[in-house]
Amino acid sequence: MSEKFSISPSGEKFPLPNPEDYKKEFENLKKRVEQERKKKREIVVVMGVGFVGAVMAAIVADTVDKKGQPTKFVIGMQRPSARSYWKIPLLNRGVSPVKAEDPEVDPMIERCVKKKKTLIATYTYDVLKLADVVVVDVQCDYIKESLGNVRTGRTDMAALESSLGVIAEHIQANALVLIETTVAPGTTEQVAYPIMKKTFKKRGIKTDPLLAHSYERVMPGRNYVASIRDFWRVCSGINEEAKKRVVKFLNEVLNTEKFPLTVMDRPIESETAKIVENSYRATILAFLNEWSLYAERNGVDLIKVIKAIKVRPTHNNIIFPGPGIGGYCLPKDGGLGVWAYKHILGFEDNIFRITPLAININDTRGLHVGQLTRDALRNMGQPIAAADVLILGAAYREDVGDTRYSGSEIIVRKLAEMGAEIRVHDPYVEHWWEFEQQDTYPGIGQSKARFFRNQEKLKEIRIEQNLNNALRGAEAVIFAVPHEAYLKLDPDKIVRTIGQPAAIIDCFGILTDANIRRYFELGCEVKGLGRGHIQRIKDELRKG
Ligand SMILES: NC(=O)c1ccc[n+]([C@@H]2O[C@H](COP(=O)([O-])OP(=O)(O)OC[C@H]3O[C@@H](n4cnc5c(N)ncnc54)[C@H](O)[C@@H]3O)[C@@H](O)[C@H]2O)c1
Repeated sequence: MSEKFSISPSGEKFPLPNPEDYKKEFENLKKRVEQERKKKREIVVVMGVGFVGAVMAAIVADTVDKKGQPTKFVIGMQRPSARSYWKIPLLNRGVSPVKAEDPEVDPMIERCVKKKKTLIATYTYDVLKLADVVVVDVQCDYIKESLGNVRTGRTDMAALESSLGVIAEHIQANALVLIETTVAPGTTEQVAYPIMKKTFKKRGIKTDPLLAHSYERVMPGRNYVASIRDFWRVCSGINEEAKKRVVKFLNEVLNTEKFPLTVMDRPIESETAKIVENSYRATILAFLNEWSLYAERNGVDLIKVIKAIKVRPTHNNIIFPGPGIGGYCLPKDGGLGVWAYKHILGFEDNIFRITPLAININDTRGLHVGQLTRDALRNMGQPIAAADVLILGAAYREDVGDTRYSGSEIIVRKLAEMGAEIRVHDPYVEHWWEFEQQDTYPGIGQSKARFFRNQEKLKEIRIEQNLNNALRGAEAVIFAVPHEAYLKLDPDKIVRTIGQPAAIIDCFGILTDANIRRYFELGCEVKGLGRGHIQRIKDELRKG
């Protein structure tokens, strides 16, 4: 990527702003904000217009009073890096910088930018001088140094810390700063507060910064907007004034009548709630890994076991883990907590056993799919090396296009290590950046490619959008994600399209027993995560 340009995912090239552009940009912003203030609109700057910030900005911009008049003017602020700058001109055109399956996202952004004229985007930090409220939605990453050992990793707060420094240099003393980023517990009081207080002192501001924390529970997918606007929120402030301001702001922009706020005494409690919430989810998923292996070895179908348990109301949120637990949050949030205990809160003992173990199990569960594929092919008299393997689904969960930390990535890397040729189909994903840009994504030297051998050629992976093309000639087919399009595929048609019997691997309980039986009858070999009864079906057919 050229340093002077930023290229959008669709390939459009945007020149980065020059130093002389900044002054003019700020002059324009000042004029615009003056006009908006006359309309009695509160000025809200959302810092970081990524998966969370872009949609949050639109939700705030969409806010109206009882008479239907907009009450907020929102400016999305994004640093003009080659990687991210394109989001600004796109937003200013009314185009969402995030691809969403939720039909509400695109029209909402277009409506706020073009019709209501309550949403714009900029690259200059000077915009912070104009804000009544700053919402921080920049990332706070957790970088893992090894596969399956979260403890060797570390929190990367660089983007967050530098954002907070810049905010403190620019904002008015009474602006509310709302951190929505998922942070290591203690960050608001022990990292953000000192950064901002010191800068305030240098600027001669005697009051405390009005810092608050309220974490996002957003689920990019079909209910993207509702998962922010129509959902319960937890919040807290660093002092009474900050608490009062954050409660007022969230009550204005979210549907808190139906989904009331939970206000905590201190930000560390709100920060901890997010980490415990996601560690809990990661743990109950990880716990099923051992029962999944047990099921495979004892003729048990774990899918049916889970269905049987689920009818009990106290256990109805038990879910089958699939080939890994992805998304941006579950693989990292527990790590932020364990890291904070030592590096922010200052303890040296090791009280955390379950949280890191759960993440380690989830991060490596996909490796087993490599073994199942190898064994299924072997049973058909074929070595995995050089076999053509089709992965159905690259996303981290069903019916979304988000590939971050998906179980499928581990499956592909393991299979490539064993020499397989990989092809991929996913109806929601256009580019699988984890492979196409593995030298630089998610950061230089941070790709999971470094944990495996034989990864170089995976850069050439391109997602096939046509299922029939993807299937033709495949020797193994892995159902990796339960996308709608994969749930009702007919075995006869599949095998006909492939052109020969193949190894079929079910990672998510997608195949019915009748389908499993039919695949065997058609000469295929079938294996599945947690599906020990497959062997029984095979034996019955042999006997019959
Ligand atoms: N994506 C999710 O599903 C989800 C769900 C719940 C919570 N969260 C949390 O929300 C936070 C944001 O996540 P995301 O998915 O939106 O990340 P993201 O990477 O999509 O977006 C972050 C944005 O911030 C920008 N940025 C970085 N430094 C900046 C700076 N100094 N000034 C201005 N902009 C800057 C980046 O360029 C990027 O566009 C994270 O803490 C995440 O854990 C995410």
